[in-house]
Amino acid sequence: MRNLTEENTTDVVLNAWSKNPDPRFKEIVDAIIKHLHDFVREVQLTEAEWAAAIEYLHKCADISSPERSEFILTSDVLGVSSLVDTINNRRPDGATENSVLGPFYIAEAGELGEVPVIQNGDDLIGERNKDGVPSYVHGIVRDAAGNPIRGASLDFWQNAPNGLYDVQEPEKGYNLRCRIITGDDGRYAFTTTKPLPYTIPLDGPAAAMMQFSNRNVWRPAHLHVRIEASGYETLTTELFIDGDEYLDDDAVFGVKDTLVLNWDTNASQEEAEKIGIWAPFCDIQHDIVLHPLKAARAAE
Ligand code: BEZ
Ligand code: FE
Repeated sequence: MRNLTEENTTDVVLNAWSKNPDPRFKEIVDAIIKHLHDFVREVQLTEAEWAAAIEYLHKCADISSPERSEFILTSDVLGVSSLVDTINNRRPDGATENSVLGPFYIAEAGELGEVPVIQNGDDLIGERNKDGVPSYVHGIVRDAAGNPIRGASLDFWQNAPNGLYDVQEPEKGYNLRCRIITGDDGRYAFTTTKPLPYTIPLDGPAAAMMQFSNRNVWRPAHLHVRIEASGYETLTTELFIDGDEYLDDDAVFGVKDTLVLNWDTNASQEEAEKIGIWAPFCDIQHDIVLHPLKAARAAE
């Protein structure tokens, strides 16, 4: 392991790492070494540029916390999160497509307590969000054959009329976030506000790098949903709004055509009142189609 040259460095380093007993770990480390070395050779990386890259990582560490990871955000804005999501969630046509999870999902009771479980038809708008555009979001969780799925647990979360997620103003408690468990009919239904486009966090190195590169820092408006159901692949996705100006320039590359919905406006005050909101309101009917787990597919 002496006298490394431009020509032999990669082979020498691969050899030094060759004794790993875990084949998958070794495959990954070998590929990282090869790609990093090729990258350095390809761009002829200078020492100042290498130091700037290390400095970027330090800045990510400085601004990250349990509630916020600038490393994940970096993965998001470089399209890595979207690529990992895509290759790990290949599904047949007709099954609802995945999209990125983002940083604002709450898996378990934390600082804000348990995620509120609501009943079909319940309202999330309340007093706090009455400046928003009222929206009725409803549909059926079903399989590809059209059979409703009972006992599916759906988590929804989105931003408020002030552009913020509840976790960005935790002192005010939960907002526009809920969990619904489906019954025999597979139905979900609730009233909420129309989400708004928003920027990724602008105070860290990821946004600085994007702005330096003249990249858009906005995400198109979306409603996040994550669905778990026994016997089916867990689905993490987002529902976007047709016509949004950022659909073709999402800062984190989450948009897929099948997830872009028409948030049609309904002007009927009578229909709005029936569901406890006011006109004009958006009416979003969207079925969610789950894909069976591999084991369940094999048993069919
Ligand atoms: C989000 O959709 O919540 C999100 C995703 C990636 C980065 C920032 C926000
Ligand atoms: Fe989001």
